[in-house]
Amino acid sequence: MNLHQHLANFKIGLRAHSPRHPRYLSNMVKRRLRCGLHLDHLWPGGWSPRPILWVDAIPTYRCNLECKMCFQRNDEGAVRWALQDQEFSPDQWKLIIDRVAQFAPTILWIGGEVLIYPRIVELLAYSKRKGLKVLIVTNGFFLANVAEKLVEIGVDLVTVSIDGSETLHNAIRQNSQAFTRAVEGIKAVLAVRQARRSSLPIVTINHVITRHNYRQIFEFVTFARELGVDVVQFLGLIYLDQTTMQCHREVLRSEFSIEAANIDALDNSQYASGIDTTWLQEQINTLRETSPGFPALRFCPSGFEDYIEAHYGPDGLLPLAHQRCSAPWQKMTIQPNGDVIGCCKLPNLYTGNVLNEDLESIWNGQAFRRFRQRIKQGPLPGCIRCGWLSYR
Ligand SMILES: C[S@@+](CC[C@H](N)C(=O)[O-])C[C@H]1O[C@@H](n2cnc3c(N)ncnc32)[C@H](O)[C@@H]1O
Ligand code: SF4
Repeated sequence: MNLHQHLANFKIGLRAHSPRHPRYLSNMVKRRLRCGLHLDHLWPGGWSPRPILWVDAIPTYRCNLECKMCFQRNDEGAVRWALQDQEFSPDQWKLIIDRVAQFAPTILWIGGEVLIYPRIVELLAYSKRKGLKVLIVTNGFFLANVAEKLVEIGVDLVTVSIDGSETLHNAIRQNSQAFTRAVEGIKAVLAVRQARRSSLPIVTINHVITRHNYRQIFEFVTFARELGVDVVQFLGLIYLDQTTMQCHREVLRSEFSIEAANIDALDNSQYASGIDTTWLQEQINTLRETSPGFPALRFCPSGFEDYIEAHYGPDGLLPLAHQRCSAPWQKMTIQPNGDVIGCCKLPNLYTGNVLNEDLESIWNGQAFRRFRQRIKQGPLPGCIRCGWLSYR
């Protein structure tokens, strides 16, 4: 990474994490120390101190798109964890926001597709009024309609998923308007942000690298730069082979007495096969060396940018034994029915329900601590390629 990129990343980091309150800056420093050095694993008995990084809020798993590689959907488009008939109302979510605001500095709204949830803008505004930093991840389809409001409210970060050129993106997302709508949404947010001379929201593009788009990453960064976004985050595709899926099922059954909820949705190897990993690694190296720093480039999992061959190779090649996960020490996820889970990839690993218990009791409750103690021993078989692991 060159000096320009370091400076740009630093600037974005500051803007993303400390726009209003000194608490954000101090939390960011503590978190980076905790995550990077895995200091969290030193706490005894699976206990974890606050501050936590953020709370994921998932008001719905429903979505208007059926993306081919989505880890929430199988090949028939069925939602991985269908809780549709149990979704909470916006008013119930306000009660949850009150609790989150007592407990964490940041709330990350994600789905499914969060912008199809009723009165979502009202909930984002309510979160801000309660003093939370507010982040959203969206496919961007309905973003233009709410752009003005999001900037007015002061949403801190908007992440929009775009997987390539118009033809590619629409094919992957299986919708002929997906690209145009996402790009119009981003343009609308950036235009309002500029008109109001605001530095927020930070606008990020998530870009999942698959066999379909990997040859065009240079063109994609140029496109993102011309669009004016702040960050491009390249995501390594999450997928598992059949053997790993079976091991994962067995571990969840024997150690937690739960079924791996629709893990078939991770049967995405076909979108990874055939990638020329040597070529891709060279391209990524060149991209990092030559990038002028705008947009800032991020890679997820951390270190993925140096482990392309391992990430897109057979499951057995991944250096899982050396990897450690900090997620259960850093964040919790609230599902559409208020259930709290310690990992967003393990939807039925129940640790409590937000309307029945306060978040502090759930956070260091028996189920959460037991889960942390297990993860401290090493990731589960199905954890490979997860963005919370680090290859470094
Ligand atoms: C599950 S989506 C939910 C938010 C929203 N619907 C969207 O598409 O941005 C969250 C992020 O995961 C990414 N994603 C989906 N399937 C993936 C996979 N198999 N591997 C890595 N990232 C994936 C999406 O592109 C998106 O950036
Ligand atoms: S838009 Fe997001 S949640 Fe919906 S199918 Fe695509 S990746 Fe999955």
